[in-house]
Amino acid sequence: MKLLVIHGPNLDLLGERQPEVYGKLTLKEINEKIAKLAKELKCEVEFFQSNHEGEIVETIGKAKSKYDFLIINPAAYTHTSVAVSDAIVATGIPTIEVHLSNIYAREEFRRKSLIAPVAVGQICGFGPDSYLLALRAAVNRMKG
Ligand code: DQA
Repeated sequence: MKLLVIHGPNLDLLGERQPEVYGKLTLKEINEKIAKLAKELKCEVEFFQSNHEGEIVETIGKAKSKYDFLIINPAAYTHTSVAVSDAIVATGIPTIEVHLSNIYAREEFRRKSLIAPVAVGQICGFGPDSYLLALRAAVNRMKG
């Protein structure tokens, strides 16, 4: 079982970026937590972060034969990117959408996700635990 965790734009700034909204952990620290849980759950996990929509689209497109599951925090592209949504459909890999913050309790424009309709499910509002919950859900689903 191999998963790819994709982090979208500005998530490389975690730790210093609006800590009152996104918490104090850096992306590296969040990835370490995910990797630790992946080890416990006996699955392989890899990570990718980009601030560029095209790079995220290409990474999803190339994921087909490499990964069984995607966990993605598309960040701001959640609300705008038909291209990321199309890439998930095209690749056909089951995908869970994740957000650190509760996107439904914030500005109106964040309440719309173009990714949710093509995802297996969405987890938001639990800070770094959103990723860990997604990982558990993905592994349970892969086990059937
Ligand atoms: C986010 C929520 C998005 O609305 C925002 O643009 C982000 C982070 C989150 O994890 O809470 O960059 O995806």
